[in-house]
Amino acid sequence: MTIQADSIRKAFPILSRTVNKRPLVYFDNAATTQKPQVVMDRLMHYYSYENSNIHRGAHFLSQQATEAYESARATIRAFIHARHNHEVIFTRGTTEAINLVAYSYTKKFVKPGDEVLISAMEHHSNIVPWQIACQELNARLKVIPMNERGELDMEAYAKLLTGKTRIVALTHVSNALGTVNPLKEIIRQAHNMDIPVLIDGAQAIPHMAVDVQDLDCDFYCFSGHKMYGPMGVGVLYGKEEWLNQMPPYQGGGEMIREVTFSGTTYNELPFKFEAGTPNVADVLGMESAVKFISHLGHEHIAAHENALLEYALSQMEQLDQIRFIGTASQRTSVISFLFKDIHPYDTGTILDKLGVAVRTGHHCAQPIMDFFEIPGTVRVSLAIYNTKKEVDILIEALKKVREMFG
Ligand code: ALA
Repeated sequence: MTIQADSIRKAFPILSRTVNKRPLVYFDNAATTQKPQVVMDRLMHYYSYENSNIHRGAHFLSQQATEAYESARATIRAFIHARHNHEVIFTRGTTEAINLVAYSYTKKFVKPGDEVLISAMEHHSNIVPWQIACQELNARLKVIPMNERGELDMEAYAKLLTGKTRIVALTHVSNALGTVNPLKEIIRQAHNMDIPVLIDGAQAIPHMAVDVQDLDCDFYCFSGHKMYGPMGVGVLYGKEEWLNQMPPYQGGGEMIREVTFSGTTYNELPFKFEAGTPNVADVLGMESAVKFISHLGHEHIAAHENALLEYALSQMEQLDQIRFIGTASQRTSVISFLFKDIHPYDTGTILDKLGVAVRTGHHCAQPIMDFFEIPGTVRVSLAIYNTKKEVDILIEALKKVREMFG
């Protein structure tokens, strides 16, 4: 089965709307993807017929909702090839998943003078939580540098791994550059020194198959809304040997075994890390998104998106004075660029007037922009429903931008 974007588009109602009196061309998928009807139907069905609080009531609806929620956990376990269902923790998204580890893991394992290693191409959500933790604990945050193409400097990485490094945290795919990092090698080197590795998978999981056991990562974080699912829900995968040793992140209902005023004992995994009433509907919506992706098949998704990336790059190269930011040999789905000396915001505004939605700015990755000494970029990010015809519309729109600012 190859991806027929034209027929897939029919599953996404929003794609048939117009913007500024033109057909919507949606190229802001790295910010959030659009949602297929099946995902929206799942939310509606839950609230219409199944709504109830879970793990609590003895009544029918509560049991049914509990079963649906735990069954979604099993679907997601299978999707990322985790060993156990209880290694899948539901969170509000990637940001909360990283914050959970940055708080809880460091509290247990990081001492003054220890080091946390991140990379030069991280999203703010994989920088700031570690900065906060390091400040609290008098630990040092170190950064793996990258080259002009937006590829990690692996020689520097090997030297930065020391007896003081307590965790490595880095992105699978850069949201601003599209770089796909060589995770297996990175994880192998860290594990040689008994250092665990956390992966920010938010930009990878919509585009490629992820097998956490094959990668052998210790933590893997992702969001529902970047993979055709709802906003406000995501996943922390963690190996049980780490999660079992880590203290709770938040206190409340669900995460306890027994509470007295003299002390509390905590629930087992995964509930220890899911304080309060969970976001049941959106977990079920995310499960529908996972089934939608699985039905299409990651190899077909990757083939379609990579072909489209190649096509878009070749067409854009023919325009004068495009400067691509991020030209890694291994990349996916993101084209960051500057057009002539036009400010990215101006390019984005004209594209919007022509019905083409892109993101402009620093993409929550200011250190990357500082590295390239630029204010920001225009970012085109692709998804399964994008087509060559839409790339052609983008190219024509860019020609108009050039005429206006020529
Ligand atoms: N992190 C999201 C992006 O790259 C919001 O646009």
